[in-house]
Amino acid sequence: MSDDDSTEIDCTMPENPEIRRLTDWNAERLRRLLSEYASPLYVLDLQRVRENYRRLAAAFPDADVHYAAKANTARPVLRTLQSEGAGIECASAGETVRALDADVPSERVQYTAVNPPTEDLDTVVGRWAQGADDLTITIGALDTLDRLESRGYDGRLCVRVNPGVGAGHHEKVATGADAKFGVPYERAGEALAEADDRGFDVVGIHAHAGSGISGEDLQSHRKLVSRMGELARNSPVDLEFVDIGGGFGVPYREDEDPLDLDAVAEATREALGEVDATLEIEPGRYLVADAGVLLTDVNTVKETPDGRVIGVDAGMTTLLRPAMYDAYHPIRNVAPDAADRPAIAQTVTGPICESADVFCTDRSIAECRRGDALAIGNAGAYGYEMASQYNSRPRPATVVLSGEKEAIARRRETIEDVTRLEREVEWL
Ligand code: LLP
Repeated sequence: MSDDDSTEIDCTMPENPEIRRLTDWNAERLRRLLSEYASPLYVLDLQRVRENYRRLAAAFPDADVHYAAKANTARPVLRTLQSEGAGIECASAGETVRALDADVPSERVQYTAVNPPTEDLDTVVGRWAQGADDLTITIGALDTLDRLESRGYDGRLCVRVNPGVGAGHHEKVATGADAKFGVPYERAGEALAEADDRGFDVVGIHAHAGSGISGEDLQSHRKLVSRMGELARNSPVDLEFVDIGGGFGVPYREDEDPLDLDAVAEATREALGEVDATLEIEPGRYLVADAGVLLTDVNTVKETPDGRVIGVDAGMTTLLRPAMYDAYHPIRNVAPDAADRPAIAQTVTGPICESADVFCTDRSIAECRRGDALAIGNAGAYGYEMASQYNSRPRPATVVLSGEKEAIARRRETIEDVTRLEREVEWL
């Protein structure tokens, strides 16, 4: 399918709404997709990804947007965003290879090295030496310079700073104040000067506060941005860009309001002040979360003294966020007659042998029966990417949509795929 099909807009939706709720998805189409491609199934609407990009880019007209690929690395997503004008921020060699192999030009690719394994540096520097010579490597520790130098790297370099400001939807994703990330703020000037002295092409500074930032975190955002503005003004080296990271939150609960992007953009402009460098932002979740749903069949219905338990095919191996962060995801019964059924308290659980394998507890949902299809909303970000093969479960397929068109972006794994890497041990 073509990836730059930007003319098709779903006419049943208002043009570019700030959030697509789970109820906005066409239930009939979701049911059809699930029966055609089997359960569980990730569905990702590329048109929605484009809308999200355009809304964000419009709010930050002077910023250069780099999509944080870790939210969803499906190739059609990378291609769609790149064709809209986004660069790609990569958290590993694997993501960097994915971006380059999706034909993203190297000058639009940034690799953010966090305690980079040898294989990452070998691979990224290898691709740089073989033609991807405009990619940027962001270091978060000074000794990464030694490791890059010893591999002959003298290309574009950005210094990640620990801004001392963290924010986010859960303590596990508030990275900004965590010593693991970045060069301490006070030593950032030194790091820039040293990298420059050693012959690297120093182009930028970077910081990231955390993920899932809401309007309430605006103060932390302001603080981070103003610290970065100050650093840029005092930089010993001319900078091309000041990257303030990603983290723009989306509403997961039905009654939660979307982030006021204009307010965030305004706060950003004010806090950054005058700098002689381009503002860069690195959104992941904001661009893809509401573009995705996870579909799953109900396979078990059980009345218990503790309530009604609904067993589905998807589990914490398919969508980890509820188990890992107690994250809320909307759930909808998309059975044809769901609207005529009573909404009753139900607990939706997966097939994994862990009690954390629960998508919701005693939540009011249209009465589920065996064979119904359920849709789990806002699953486009950090859904498939965090899926695992725990319990030897194959990972699901991803289908991408663009208008009426649809295609498999990643096929479903088989048990054969899951067991493929095992070698027989000679003596057993
Ligand atoms: N830039 C850097 C350096 C990051 O570490 C991240 C996310 C982003 C950008 C994008 O953040 P976003 O715009 O997506 O919030 N698995 C967690 C989220 C972890 C995010 C890690 N870093 C979750 O499911 O909530």
